[in-house]
Amino acid sequence: MNDFKAYLVESDAGGVRAGFTRLTDAQLDAGDVTVRVHHASVNYKDALATSGKGKIIRRFPCIAGIDAVGVVEASDSPRFRAGDSVVVHSHGFGVSHHGGYAERARVPADWVNRIPDGLTPLEAITLGVAGYTAALAVDLMELNGCAPARGPVAVNGATGGVAGVAIDMLARRGYEVVAITSKPAEAQYLRELGAASIVAASELQTGSRPLESARWAAAVDNLGGEPLAGLLRTMNKDAVIASIGNAAGIELHTTVMPFILRGVRLIGVNSDNDTALREHLWQRMATDLRPQHLDRIRRVVPFDRLPSVVDDLIAGRNRGRAVIEIDAGG
Ligand SMILES: NC(=O)c1ccc[n+]([C@@H]2O[C@H](COP(=O)([O-])OP(=O)(O)OC[C@H]3O[C@@H](n4cnc5c(N)ncnc54)[C@H](OP(=O)(O)O)[C@@H]3O)[C@@H](O)[C@H]2O)c1
Repeated sequence: MNDFKAYLVESDAGGVRAGFTRLTDAQLDAGDVTVRVHHASVNYKDALATSGKGKIIRRFPCIAGIDAVGVVEASDSPRFRAGDSVVVHSHGFGVSHHGGYAERARVPADWVNRIPDGLTPLEAITLGVAGYTAALAVDLMELNGCAPARGPVAVNGATGGVAGVAIDMLARRGYEVVAITSKPAEAQYLRELGAASIVAASELQTGSRPLESARWAAAVDNLGGEPLAGLLRTMNKDAVIASIGNAAGIELHTTVMPFILRGVRLIGVNSDNDTALREHLWQRMATDLRPQHLDRIRRVVPFDRLPSVVDDLIAGRNRGRAVIEIDAGG
């Protein structure tokens, strides 16, 4: 392949703009592993990056796309051989190094994992950064004492990508999952993923007392801002919150009362991890954390329709995971 199609984000005096172009291998960044990309996905971070709504891209021009799956074409790393089916994600991918919205990617080997037995490439990209982060959250929550017998787990931003996979993973492990959403009309979808009950986000707009009636043994927070502050006020004693996202805001106004009177543990979740943790989590996603409804969570979209998917995510109209078909022959 001499040149290939890519979705490139550029910046000039007029601001950030993204569009389709053609690039050559010589324009790719340096790396040990060259991958022919078959699919990528659209994460909230990709929507912020390509729309310019968030300062995500750290080097312009940059092919966006923070995750991708495909087949290794060439490798200078002993960990990979031509023909391996792999997933690429996190670190600088699609942020400070050309990412997944292109028919080719060249990256450091530490950003690559072989797709484990038990997952197809399409399932692996349905998981992508979203699923990986949900798996990391569950892993960290359980290391911090979370268990099904302790009580209900709240998952907010429930119709989103991370949340959908988290609901599925937690329900499969026997947790009573409460899906909190701004789209109560999606209740049926959320129940199909395994949510035991649905709560409208509007019902949780509570007061501002430092502590309120305790409801949750654990929570997966995709939103930050006031929704996270509300969760903190309503956690059970010794509850665990995994802080993943900021779709509602980056600020957090709270008091120390949940921590010192209820022993609430607020744990940070960041998906830039070393090779050993990545390997551990991809193996878990193919086995004991394997979601059961990835086909329900996923929709596959042609590469040309990427901009409209981004618009939907920015407008909060998304449901589940959008997988972009980069190479129709892949
Ligand atoms: N820490 C990490 O390493 C890491 C990794 C991956 C993702 N993230 C973060 O996790 C969050 C979720 O990512 P995602 O890819 O799952 O996003 P997504 O698919 O766009 O889902 C976000 C969901 O949040 C809700 N939402 C959207 N805009 C909102 C707003 N302005 N106020 C309140 N709720 C809003 C919506 O759910 P409802 O309508 O159902 O409420 C939406 O479906 C993002 O903030 C992302 O940056 C972090």
